[in-house]
Amino acid sequence: MLRILALISLFWTVALVPAMAQETVDDARAATGGAQTLEDILRRQEGLKIDDSFRSDLTGDPNAAAVPSDQLGTLGGASDPDLWRGLRYNAADVSTQQRGPAATTLIQDGGMWWLSFRRGALLSFGAYLLGGTLLALGLFYLVRGRIRIDGEKTGRSITRFKAFERFGHWLLATSFLILGATGLITLFGRKFLIPVFGPESFSTIAVGSKWVHNNVSWAFIVALVIIFVVWVVHNIPDRTDLRWLAKAGGLFGGEHPPAKKFNAGQKLIFWSVIILGGSIAASGLSLLFPFEFNLFGHTFSTLNSWGVPGWFGADDLPYPLQPQEEMQYAQLWHAIVSFVLLAIIFAHIYLGSVGMEGAFDAMGKGEVEEQWAREHHSIWAEETLGAKQSKEGGA
Ligand code: HEM
Repeated sequence: MLRILALISLFWTVALVPAMAQETVDDARAATGGAQTLEDILRRQEGLKIDDSFRSDLTGDPNAAAVPSDQLGTLGGASDPDLWRGLRYNAADVSTQQRGPAATTLIQDGGMWWLSFRRGALLSFGAYLLGGTLLALGLFYLVRGRIRIDGEKTGRSITRFKAFERFGHWLLATSFLILGATGLITLFGRKFLIPVFGPESFSTIAVGSKWVHNNVSWAFIVALVIIFVVWVVHNIPDRTDLRWLAKAGGLFGGEHPPAKKFNAGQKLIFWSVIILGGSIAASGLSLLFPFEFNLFGHTFSTLNSWGVPGWFGADDLPYPLQPQEEMQYAQLWHAIVSFVLLAIIFAHIYLGSVGMEGAFDAMGKGEVEEQWAREHHSIWAEETLGAKQSKEGGA
């Protein structure tokens, strides 16, 4: 008897319960005209996954509806949901006069993932990174104070940067800061500026920001090329950099390790600006001319063919990508890399201004105090002063 009861309960749990549950779900779906149930919607709102494969079959009865090619015409479809599902699952035979690359995809589910990431995690990541960097710099200032010129000042100065170098630097700096500010307005505006200014005023701010952002980008690209050309020879890594790094550049105290025109820290800044700035420019251009050139699909397929995701125990990266997905990845990449470069540049601005006595003059006037040069760039100072003396001696 007990055995029979056990068998019945096993049959109940394994076969009948799921079947009944499925029936209830199907009933509920039937009650909503085949659309999602309230449970589906609630689960989706909680960010849980739902099995919505059933929807792809519900694209309407072609015999009951107007002919598919006429579904957007005057006769209409059997029902709007049928038509939308037809579009979404590529079952409606609709054609448009628009022949752009994105015209083939009218509804793209993956966009929801991108939208919520852009509205949530991306904002938190950016806010923590930039806020954390400012906090760390504030702490560094409290602990270390301003890095002073240790020795006696000579009252003499040497030329550090020519006018063209300074022009390139300030073009880069102003354009980057304007791009940073307008980019942040675009990303954070909906959340933080609409509540303050209201939707109408924010709309003017947002349109203006976008215009400035799109146009100032050219100045940034030109400046990037200038500083690359004028400074690349001084930024090739060498052995002095290892010594400099081993002593953390004397930034936390102790003696200043020898350095050429640029020390290892500055070389890191230079290459970050070139590589990350170049990548921001490339993804920005891809966003500025949507669907014209795609950066991600090809990269993902190459990385997959090398098995790179597997090294991290991850699945293959998505490939092929729809045109809209290309834009979504370009937007995320553009924003994430910009956040990282902004954080690096915050540290750079700190050291180039309040953080270090005598540094700003290098970019401000182009001249630095001789003693500053001897302490921070001893090898370069010796070479420059030697050349200066032999020139004066020869004259
Ligand atoms: C507006 C604030 C800024 C200030 C006060 C500032 C200051 C300086 C100074 C004083 C130097 C020369 C350091 C030396 O003589 O050794 C310098 C160099 C440099 N700056 Fe800036 N800068 C600013 C913004 C930027 C921005 C936004 C970028 C890039 C996006 C940038 C990129 C560079 C690079 C690549 C160098 C050469 C390498 C280095 O010294 O780190 N700067 N800057």
